[in-house]
Amino acid sequence: MVAGEPTIASAARRKRVGVLISGRGSNLQALLDAAADPTFPAEIVLVISNRSDAAGLARAAEAGVPHLTVDHRDFQGRVDFDAAMTAALEEVGVEIVALAGFMRILSTEFVDRWQGAMINVHPSLLPLFPGLDTHARAIAEGVRLHGCSVHFVGHDVDSGPIIGQAAVAVADNDTPDSLAARVLAAEHGLYPACLKLVASGKVRIQGNRTEIEGAVVPRECLFSLPTA
Ligand code: GRF
Repeated sequence: MVAGEPTIASAARRKRVGVLISGRGSNLQALLDAAADPTFPAEIVLVISNRSDAAGLARAAEAGVPHLTVDHRDFQGRVDFDAAMTAALEEVGVEIVALAGFMRILSTEFVDRWQGAMINVHPSLLPLFPGLDTHARAIAEGVRLHGCSVHFVGHDVDSGPIIGQAAVAVADNDTPDSLAARVLAAEHGLYPACLKLVASGKVRIQGNRTEIEGAVVPRECLFSLPTA
């Protein structure tokens, strides 16, 4: 091979990704950082926020990624709002939608349109703790392992085939905030890793599960036992 010649993998066309946000955008940042590597199999081609004051929009601007606000309050209802987002995503040829702290419930129509092509990061080990306040609920339930999940988006809130999960130990003195900070750091590692698998076509949906081509899983137990 001639030096500098692209390898087959890096020459493959990168999947076009649209990211939907509502706020801070730290997961968006993790995806932008990963996609800054030209060998990453996905590129972020559009960021949509439903709020014009979302801090994540500045992150998109900083990365030179096209971004726009589609304000849900400008539409009659969910279906019209979602149709406007689909139109914007389709206009730039988006192939994968990544939800990153997008705080609107999606219509059946939107979920159907992007079925198998829309992923989400959620701050719990699903199917435990779907919905909001996951860290406080994990502490209240006394779980010793908490974490985050990346999954394809199904019709129910925080449902759909799980692609990957990362676990975080819960300490006796954790508060929802201290636990959230460690889970968020795990999200920033997990989300780009899962997007990479999806964009490279290695994830197959089998009913409510996924199968990952070539996956080698660790065989050892992961303990959460405090050591003195
Ligand atoms: C994250 O905890 C994510 O799991 C949840 O919303 C939060 C978004 O944070 N869906 P950020 O906007 O990515 O910083």
